[in-house]
Amino acid sequence: SASPSPAGIHDLSFATTEFVLPHTALAAYNGTEIGKYHVGIGQQAMSVPAADEDIVTMGAAAAAPIVSRHGTDRIRTVVFATESSIDQAKSAGVYVHSLLGMPSATRVVELKQACYGATAALQFALGLVRRDPAQQVLVIASDVSKYDLDSPGEATQGAAAVAMLVGAEPALVRIEEPSGLFTADVMDFWRPNYRETALVDGQESITAYLQAVQGAWKDYQEQGGRGLESFDAFCYHQPFTKMAYKAHRHLLNCCGHVIDEAQIARAIGQTTAYNRVVGNSYTASLYLALAALLDDAGDLSGRSVGFLSYGSGSVAEFFAGTVVPGYQAHLRTAAHRQAISRRQPVDYARYRELHGLSFPPDGADHPTPPQTTGPFRLSGLRDHKRVYERR
Ligand code: HMG
Repeated sequence: SASPSPAGIHDLSFATTEFVLPHTALAAYNGTEIGKYHVGIGQQAMSVPAADEDIVTMGAAAAAPIVSRHGTDRIRTVVFATESSIDQAKSAGVYVHSLLGMPSATRVVELKQACYGATAALQFALGLVRRDPAQQVLVIASDVSKYDLDSPGEATQGAAAVAMLVGAEPALVRIEEPSGLFTADVMDFWRPNYRETALVDGQESITAYLQAVQGAWKDYQEQGGRGLESFDAFCYHQPFTKMAYKAHRHLLNCCGHVIDEAQIARAIGQTTAYNRVVGNSYTASLYLALAALLDDAGDLSGRSVGFLSYGSGSVAEFFAGTVVPGYQAHLRTAAHRQAISRRQPVDYARYRELHGLSFPPDGADHPTPPQTTGPFRLSGLRDHKRVYERR
């Protein structure tokens, strides 16, 4: 069924960290056969934040080019989606709003439901835009994925932020209705407030993800969604890129399709370039898959893309988008490639040191060493307040 009025993603930009750890370094340290990382989970490298980077600095770096290209006149709402929140009360979006010098006449809020949060933000943004097509919404998805050292999850860490400008008559992707929805109370992955690293039941999380794919798709069909054949590409949440292949195979199976591995490789392969080398960026991951598809695939004008968003715990949503003819002129391919290639490789020892960094638990004043060469930095903690600066 057609959307009430065209609305969707007008601009998309991502940012990641200062440092990168190649999986070869992790494998050399823990004795894992590298094929398990490169092929088994489909990961090559993981973004590692510097001491002075966090979800705010990455979110601001992702959003700054959007604000400079479009201005702020029409942006009346900023929705910041994250599951690696830095404060229990204040939205990370308020810091970004300030760093970007946005007008006071703006509503700003933070949303959470594991990796699904950015899709909730996108859907809420579409609702606001359809209510008043003159308004635009800045959606920011920013996360640092952190598991315990020497745990199976360690190889799936990563960090990145995606910023999307949502508006009427979008230049990149029109988002359609209906959506297929699925919620189930499962404990596959969670992070209690007293922990910095996530707890996860790895195999259970994969099963829960696949069940959610099936559930969201079933509802999508019941709501009158398109048939599977009408999609030209599929973007899945990618905690590790192999998961997208598992999910797509599962969907085809559920729909009674014959499994053609070469076809799956083509459909999914064009969405994994960024996530393979960034790692899990939680809320941002699905939209990094979209960025890779738009930046790397051939001409997608008028083509339909299926999106499957999953957040542990769990909530999933399936929805469709159509790529707008002429979208290529609005891409940020060169900047995206630069965000990946500018990262400085760290060795295993340095990574381990960065992994262990945290602010003193009593909140004592704590300046952070200048490490990032990015446009924004967290200069430290003073009087229990995080202090940021723009270069
Ligand atoms: P593990 O126990 O380290 O690995 O856990 P494994 O033994 O399951 O092996 C992984 C794959 O590598 C297997 O392939 C092996 O066969 C293969 P599969 O059977 O799955 O197709 N393999 C090899 N392949 C080639 N050459 C070799 C080789 N050796 C083995 N030499 C696991 C892996 C993903 C579970 C772990 O990394 C983990 O716990 N990760 C974190 C949880 C996670 O990412 N779950 C994904 C679904 S949940 C989700 O997406 C939500 C999430 O993003 C959070 C949120 O929503 O907020 C996580």
